[in-house]
Amino acid sequence: MYKTKAYSAASATSPLASATIPRRDPNEHDVQIEILFCGICHSDLHSVRNEWSSLMPTVYPIVPGHEIVGRVTEVGSAVTKYKPGDLAAVGCLVDSDGTCPECQAGLEQLCPNQTLTFNSPDKHLGGVTYGGYSDSVVVDERFVLRLPSNLDLAGAAPLLCAGITTYSPLRRWGVTRGKKVGVVGLGGLGHMGVKFAHALGAHVVAFTTSPGKKEDALRLGADEVVVSRNADEMQKHAGSFDFILDAVSADHDINAYINLLARDGTLTIVGAPEKPLAVSAFSLLMGRRNLAGSIIGGIAETREMLDFCGEHNITADVEVIPIQKVNEAYERLLRSDVKYRFSIDMASLKSE
Ligand SMILES: NC(=O)c1ccc[n+]([C@@H]2O[C@H](COP(=O)([O-])OP(=O)(O)OC[C@H]3O[C@@H](n4cnc5c(N)ncnc54)[C@H](OP(=O)(O)O)[C@@H]3O)[C@@H](O)[C@H]2O)c1
Ligand SMILES: [Zn+2]
Ligand SMILES: [Zn+2]
Repeated sequence: MYKTKAYSAASATSPLASATIPRRDPNEHDVQIEILFCGICHSDLHSVRNEWSSLMPTVYPIVPGHEIVGRVTEVGSAVTKYKPGDLAAVGCLVDSDGTCPECQAGLEQLCPNQTLTFNSPDKHLGGVTYGGYSDSVVVDERFVLRLPSNLDLAGAAPLLCAGITTYSPLRRWGVTRGKKVGVVGLGGLGHMGVKFAHALGAHVVAFTTSPGKKEDALRLGADEVVVSRNADEMQKHAGSFDFILDAVSADHDINAYINLLARDGTLTIVGAPEKPLAVSAFSLLMGRRNLAGSIIGGIAETREMLDFCGEHNITADVEVIPIQKVNEAYERLLRSDVKYRFSIDMASLKSE
């Protein structure tokens, strides 16, 4: 075991602050990574503030962060795919049983015995796992990913959660050329959804509550932008979508979007608001529509997504911040005031 610097929160109402945490020494299959950048996902904020307490209560202190890119510093004796000096990335998962039907199907994100990057029981050290707001991390090589060499590192970090979480459902529900696709909420996830849906050739409509994001949405790849608070603008699209991806972090009326689906269309939720969303049965009955959910993606699909980003030169639009600004960043995230993902330059942690 060794000690490494991190930022942690002591309770649901405490700010994140400098701390020292333990990490295991690399075992034979482990890769030790010096973290260079870590994205700030809204899930970090939900977890720090214990907003998912009924499903996965937060254990304090918590070190969030699951959009990790860095450089390999040490590898265990059995590691074959990585060596010191390589760039490497880690997303939301650091372990799974590898044997259940989900793992066998390459769907580690659905494994009942998975270990999340933070706030999951830590099989090695006891307590819970600590995430990427930290100097270094030690991860089994099965859950370490290789980055395409052409991608900017700060912008690549958010691919590890926001990227795969939007890429996976767009692929799963067959988004291609000729399909009309909506993306709701232009945050970290939503802006990646727009980029991917555009790259897959769909006709993309971005829905935002922030009129100030209209120009950006077009630049990101949307063909049309709808300010969702305008009922007339919404009505123009009634019954017309093949697929809608809902990436909203807070309470909102999903029936307004279900009503925009064409016959047999699907609305897939990736946003994870604290409170349940009310669904009108009639929104679904009329038009035989589908309501679905999706959570991150498996390791093989994450590799596929990273390759896709390498080929299409896709990264997140990031605002790079030092770790000392993380609490301010959380407040701005709550106001939908980020274009479009914060990426923490972890070099800033060295001065703590
Ligand atoms: N399923 C998964 O695997 C998975 C993975 C990662 C994250 N998540 C969840 O996905 C959600 C989004 O994460 P994120 O990191 O993209 O968050 P984010 O950057 O904060 O983006 C959320 C966006 O939702 C919109 N929004 C916020 N409050 C709203 C409200 N009251 N009504 C309507 N729209 C609102 C805003 O977009 P506009 O300004 O455009 O309206 C905002 O930018 C979070 O709940 C997060 O926990 C799920
Ligand atoms: Zn996330
Ligand atoms: Zn499994």
